Amino acid sequence: MSKYIAAIDQGTTSTRCILFNHQGKIVSVGQKEHEQIYPHPGWVEHNPTEIWKNTLEVIAVARINVSATASDIAAIGITNQRETTVVWNRRTGKPYYNALVWQDTRTTDLVARFEKEGGLNQFRDITGLPVSTYFSGLKLKWLLENVDGIREDAEKGEAIFGNMDTFLIWHLTGGVQGGIHVTDVTNASRTQLMNLHTLQWDRKMLSVYNIPENMLPEIKSSSEVYGNVTNEILPGVPVAGDLGDQHAALVGQTCFHPGMAKNTYGTGCFLVMNTGNELKTSENGLLTTIAYKFGNEPVQYALEGSVAITGALVQWVRDNLGIIKQSSEIEQLAQTVNDNGGAYFVPAFSGLYAPYWRNDARGVIAGLTRYVNKGHIARAVLEATAYQTLDVVKAMEQDSGIKLASLRVDGGMVSNQLLMQFQSDILNTQVVSPAVAETTALGAAYAAGLAVGYWQNTEELTRNWTIAHTWNPDMDEESRNRFYGGWQKAVTKSYDWME
Ligand code: G3P
Repeated sequence: MSKYIAAIDQGTTSTRCILFNHQGKIVSVGQKEHEQIYPHPGWVEHNPTEIWKNTLEVIAVARINVSATASDIAAIGITNQRETTVVWNRRTGKPYYNALVWQDTRTTDLVARFEKEGGLNQFRDITGLPVSTYFSGLKLKWLLENVDGIREDAEKGEAIFGNMDTFLIWHLTGGVQGGIHVTDVTNASRTQLMNLHTLQWDRKMLSVYNIPENMLPEIKSSSEVYGNVTNEILPGVPVAGDLGDQHAALVGQTCFHPGMAKNTYGTGCFLVMNTGNELKTSENGLLTTIAYKFGNEPVQYALEGSVAITGALVQWVRDNLGIIKQSSEIEQLAQTVNDNGGAYFVPAFSGLYAPYWRNDARGVIAGLTRYVNKGHIARAVLEATAYQTLDVVKAMEQDSGIKLASLRVDGGMVSNQLLMQFQSDILNTQVVSPAVAETTALGAAYAAGLAVGYWQNTEELTRNWTIAHTWNPDMDEESRNRFYGGWQKAVTKSYDWME
């Protein structure tokens, strides 16, 4: 039996390859950041060719670290930043334009038009999503309308669309020599082009957004052999798992039963709750989405609360304000004060996502007095992540009727003790992190491993999950209400501020 499963985690800021062993433990990691391109305020792009090159590099590093050959690797799973949209030519392999990143707000005018003509929720029954700049469908519409050659080439079947999963699988399985053009149900559910009931591209959505169907990938399950790697980096290894990163983290956290939820603290925060075979429509601003689908087994649905900016706010404070040199310094700076000093930071840089869905919102710092210093700002930055999570948890509890007994957490910010304790305090709920923190990559590895028989079933995976750390709430109700009240007031200042 091969020793490892490889997972490629193509994220917003970096690409990683992680090799896992049978116990779901990390044995090797390769990682590389890519450039963030901001051509105009609100526009965010990535260079897809750079990301493909980085992918090859990080696979090589992960292999070399443990001298792994292709035959040591049973399968590869892919997980990716979702919604990020790329169109490329299947004959040349060249992208027509940079990838439009999920945070990009260039389609704000299109959103406003749909809002006026039918409202933001008009496609929720079909797609589970509101009209927003966030999802791939409108980004693809923008590319078709604004980049020369795409529409004509798409009609000819030469220009093809994909999220980053599709782009990487196509390259790994042959590229211009016949790469496989596929995606999985979780990624497809974030395009706003897939029908959540049939799990197929939806004719009405394609016609409303005017998208030629033959440029779209075939929709597959999240766990099956899509094809084999042809590239010399891992020749012959089956590509057997594909999940959007938040869905992968749900799998990596082994949330296989309805009511189980995880929150991932990355660039943004994404709280996802498994709702089982049942498709639940949100009344409180959450998204209905696919949890995962393993091979021929029934699809599992989920509710998701997506928050656009959390860890990205720490990066912004580092890069644009310069009050810290490294992201990890934010905790130390926040510890220099006892509380936020009355300051609240609402990081609505890409509008506000769940549960508000305000494309027009922009960032604000509220409550400034001369008393406030950079320690208070650091604290307000961290607290913003916790308050945004509380907003989403409240909506989740109302939609699902389930009170969260504890919250499984993962992602980079989980190493921030101050944040995690404040999160537990403000939620008044226990917060737990797993021993293997890389749940996103682990979920992709699990999907691939299940497809090739490296793991037998989800019970086996559940046995791999163990707790690393628990934070218990320790804040009185009066303080909790006062802090959250301040946040709610600050949120109202982030929109309508131009009027
Ligand atoms: O929906 C966007 C999300 O998938 C991005 O995740 O971890 O790359 O920030 P991350």
